[in-house]
Amino acid sequence: MAVGDFVRDKVVLVTGAGGGIGRDFALALAREGARVVVNDIGASVNGEGQDLTRAQGVVDEITALGGVAVANGDSVADWEAANRMVKQAVDAFGRIDCVINNAGILRDRFFHNMNIDEWRAVIDVHLNGAFYVSRAAAPYFKSQESGSYIHMVSTSGLIGNLGQANYSAAKLGIVALSKSIAMDMARFNVRSNCISPFAWSRMIGSMPTETPEQQARVERLQKMETSKIAPLAVFLASDAAAKVSGQIFAVRANEIFLMSQIRPLRAMHTAEGWTPQSVAERVLPALKPSFYALDRSQDVFDWDPV
Ligand code: NAI
Repeated sequence: MAVGDFVRDKVVLVTGAGGGIGRDFALALAREGARVVVNDIGASVNGEGQDLTRAQGVVDEITALGGVAVANGDSVADWEAANRMVKQAVDAFGRIDCVINNAGILRDRFFHNMNIDEWRAVIDVHLNGAFYVSRAAAPYFKSQESGSYIHMVSTSGLIGNLGQANYSAAKLGIVALSKSIAMDMARFNVRSNCISPFAWSRMIGSMPTETPEQQARVERLQKMETSKIAPLAVFLASDAAAKVSGQIFAVRANEIFLMSQIRPLRAMHTAEGWTPQSVAERVLPALKPSFYALDRSQDVFDWDPV
């Protein structure tokens, strides 16, 4: 492998790195000189089952290419296990410099039919998992006064999507978690950023292809390779990103976006105070032109990936 120096000797824990986007992170990081802990429980897309050969397979690929990596088969959705994977990084390589919270599952269902197990499973892996793994690494980052967190989020949360209340809520929760970490740990030079990827992985590979419109959409999506997300992640793990924190990026094939963050859009005020009547008569007409439609991700990103 052509080895670069962008993250030379940094120790990076990538969760859910046994396949998809995370595998490409692990390979790209190793190629740029990082030592990588490849975590993956080896679950199905909906989070069932366990296959420890998945993480080991990526470690074998990295080793065959001349890189350095170890495998971890723990679940991010377990606080003790999250501590074990961080400790494994420190035991194997003496330190930890970057955590990439990438592990993920889906349990899609319309909100009115979603059951408690579907809600909890998705919140556990995404939101709780991101907290557990980040929190487990925090004492190391604090004491060495450096560290980079990278969290994978989704336009399902940033914009919206049907049938993903659990996933959308978890992902937007991670955005707030990332901002909180960025603020709380800035005093220790610790950075935290989000990446919202678009990539053809098994996670979106089960989309229906019955109508010509659906077929065209899937063909467009297949152009968005998982490896296209890695350059931004490697950059964010590196010292070249020393000033980058609290941001939300999106990556879609060769496009990289900086996403907006929520700020007041329009305001109305009155010296007398509002009544329901005056809200209806004066506030609604003033604010209504700025209301957001019930947009889904594809309504906002409505052009072909570049
Ligand atoms: P993927 O399904 O290929 O990879 C997710 C990996 O996480 C799997 O290998 C799975 O075994 C692992 N995993 C699941 N539960 C785990 C647990 N409890 N502990 C450890 N590992 C676990 O999916 P993909 O597409 O590579 O997704 C990566 C991340 O990007 C996820 O967080 C996903 O939500 C996010 N994302 C992906 C998008 C896409 O277009 N592919 C769009 C938006 C977000």
